[in-house]
Amino acid sequence: MSSPLLQLSNGSKMPQVGFGLWKVPNESCADIVYNAIKTGYRLFDGACDYGNEVEAGQGVARAIKDGLVKREELFIVSKLWNSFHDPEQVEPILKKQLADWGVDYFDLYIIHFPVSLKYISPETRYPPGWFVDDASTKIEYGKSSLESTYKAMEAAQKKGLTKAIGVSNYTGALLLDLLTYATIKPATLQIEHHPYLVQPKLLELAKENDIVVTGYSSFGPQSFVDGDMAMAKDIPLLFDHDVITSIAKKHNKTTAQVLLRWATQRGLAVIPKSSSQQRLEQNLAVTNFDLSDDEIKQISSLDKNLRFNAPLNWGIPIPLFS
Ligand SMILES: NC(=O)c1ccc[n+]([C@@H]2O[C@H](COP(=O)([O-])OP(=O)(O)OC[C@H]3O[C@@H](n4cnc5c(N)ncnc54)[C@H](OP(=O)(O)O)[C@@H]3O)[C@@H](O)[C@H]2O)c1
Repeated sequence: MSSPLLQLSNGSKMPQVGFGLWKVPNESCADIVYNAIKTGYRLFDGACDYGNEVEAGQGVARAIKDGLVKREELFIVSKLWNSFHDPEQVEPILKKQLADWGVDYFDLYIIHFPVSLKYISPETRYPPGWFVDDASTKIEYGKSSLESTYKAMEAAQKKGLTKAIGVSNYTGALLLDLLTYATIKPATLQIEHHPYLVQPKLLELAKENDIVVTGYSSFGPQSFVDGDMAMAKDIPLLFDHDVITSIAKKHNKTTAQVLLRWATQRGLAVIPKSSSQQRLEQNLAVTNFDLSDDEIKQISSLDKNLRFNAPLNWGIPIPLFS
């Protein structure tokens, strides 16, 4: 099994279906990554904040050592955390993350969230998280503009530390602003995307600017119920929604596959995570059947403009999307 590739503006090709590393436990992460590679996954979506880059790198190293794959056949993504936005901190933390993975370049390095938090050294706490103190009570903003951070990302790409750069959780306004100063366009935009948060205009803007969009949390409430978010518990699961179940039945696919196909047919890349081998296989097999235009429309019409992954919904007092 393998994934189709999407063309990026930097000249690279990126797998359309990858594996997300958020919430993958440290103790099983190396094995999960190794098995995902064995199953056919080539893109891994990591981040400092997930706290498992060392273990993910161990899985990659074992797969390379066993001859399952070569480094150049993999597409490794990582992210710049909010507390490393000061331009002078970008290269050092990127180099630490490369060392954690045990690789000498990333295929894509993206700004995780458009907010600068006060620098916390890796020796003090790593991953640093959202709060400035260990007690998780206080937010302290940093002083770096997104423009200055992005310029440091461009410098890192020019040095070959990453083949491409991108952004995540940017709104249309932030993307438009970025396009006024970027000398290297972001290759990708990573956003929350599912039938309750369809964002057609943001997708159009990205397309007009040759930016590939990666959708995360493709199953909507599922990963937030999983993460114990109170708000998500009141929202009907997409897996049980009549529109999704009836389309799945018609195509003899699972509801998860229909949700991933809806996104991939809209041109997005997806990065589902699963701890089960069966679901892992199922999630990769989502580009070998087609939904009709009418089915895509029916799914898109479930839109509620409902965002789960906003800091405020996690009890983090940062009004990022307000
Ligand atoms: N840029 C950002 O700010 C950001 C934010 C969130 C996520 N992400 C990235 O996006 C990735 C995916 O997002 P996510 O973790 O929110 O959601 P997800 O991986 O799309 O969904 C994970 C949830 O769905 C379940 N699941 C997976 N495959 C399934 C299937 N075929 N059938 C039924 N249930 C299934 C998983 O349970 P099991 O493990 O038990 O299968 C888990 O509960 C993350 O790993 C991360 O890399 C980025």
